[in-house]
Amino acid sequence: MRISVIGCGYLGAVHAAAMASIGHDVVGIDVDERKVEALSQGKAPFFEPGLAEILTEGVASGRLTFTTDMAAARGAEVHFVGVGTPQQADGYAADLTYVNAAFDALAAYLQPGDIVAGKSTVPVGTAAALASTVSDAGATLAWNPEFLREGWAVQDTIDPDRLVVGVPSGEEGERAADILRAVYHPAVAKGTPFIVTDYATAELVKVSANAFLATKISFINAMAEIAEVTGADVTQLADAIGHDVRIGRRFLGAGIGFGGGCLPKDIRAFSARAEELGRGESVAFLREVDAINLRRRERAVQLVIDGLGGSVFGRKVAVLGAAFKPHSDDVRDSPALDVAVRLHGLGAEVVVTDPQAVENARRSHPQLTYAEARDEALTGADAVVIVTEWDEYRRELSPEHAASLARGRVVVDGRNCLNASAWREAGWSYHGMGRP
Ligand code: UGA
Repeated sequence: MRISVIGCGYLGAVHAAAMASIGHDVVGIDVDERKVEALSQGKAPFFEPGLAEILTEGVASGRLTFTTDMAAARGAEVHFVGVGTPQQADGYAADLTYVNAAFDALAAYLQPGDIVAGKSTVPVGTAAALASTVSDAGATLAWNPEFLREGWAVQDTIDPDRLVVGVPSGEEGERAADILRAVYHPAVAKGTPFIVTDYATAELVKVSANAFLATKISFINAMAEIAEVTGADVTQLADAIGHDVRIGRRFLGAGIGFGGGCLPKDIRAFSARAEELGRGESVAFLREVDAINLRRRERAVQLVIDGLGGSVFGRKVAVLGAAFKPHSDDVRDSPALDVAVRLHGLGAEVVVTDPQAVENARRSHPQLTYAEARDEALTGADAVVIVTEWDEYRRELSPEHAASLARGRVVVDGRNCLNASAWREAGWSYHGMGRP
């Protein structure tokens, strides 16, 4: 099928390349000339495992092209819109400027029978408000939220655990759903759940899934706070409750909490939208989820202060990690970088390292000192803080090796990812999050 993808950021670039890799003819359209140029050469503008391969393949096959010219959308049967919906500068609500601009620009090139599939994460009610822009051209709007995780984005796009499409009622909606089934043919053929619903439900599936995940993380982090005053171990607690299949162990990783371009802004946008709908109290707990999450960053900083005897001023702190999670170079709302910034603000001599995210971190926080290599950051450190659980720190860094480089013996495990007893046996004063 001929497909256009409007917006070639994280979501759109991966979606375009993934659609080409399953056999479609795809044009990716973005207003950013530099991004389009890089993508046209098969270069991924960010680190995402597996993306470079399918981009290169798609571009070489001629089935995947990129342009800044919206007119290239004309002739595609399906148009995916995956532009960003960041948090507004002066509030919690989502900023829909890019979504509205993309729909306005696309409208001129739509042809009767086309399907426009919105993928951006939007406040509930957005699709209904946009539908007439699309139907005026004789095309149909579907809302098809995306559930990909950074670091697993290619796999999640080609082989998702479910597909959700919100469509208008009646024959028009059935036709749109059938066309989207054809788009996602490999996943549909293997029996992936394909849920056809209305716009509001589709939009809500997306935000409620992220709200649930954020709540799960903050739940275990709240338990970590209780563990800290009772001497309990939150990691054992998570293992134990996680055996109950109704609860499950995943996303019960206590630590410095969630960040990134999705969870934080999505729960805030959800709260803001619920307020607008007069149902603020229904998701009032999300404010608490946010507050718990932010408190955990401060807790990690406090552990460093305590570990260093009451002050970090003038002490060298190696911060291992800058990305909001491993397998990503994304530093948007990164708890890891936030811990580094707070320590820096307290007068510590912070050296931040990360296997992938140093360049992005330097751009957003030029006031910090960076080291490309892990061991360079560790050399002469009075304290070591692990804030992103990359294998380079979690598995491949032995406490003995770290001790041979660092000056002090204080380690703060902001992700509860180290073997505490091995570090203690090697002479380190180990401090976990919610662990004795
Ligand atoms: C999240 C969702 O998981 C995806 O399903 C969704 O599609 C995506 O947002 C989106 O809306 O686009 P992502 O932002 O890539 O995906 O990251 P996650 O894997 O969800 O991790 C989010 C944060 O939670 C990270 O900072 C991670 O370190 C933290 N986390 C995760 C914990 O602190 N503890 C855990 O147990 C798990």
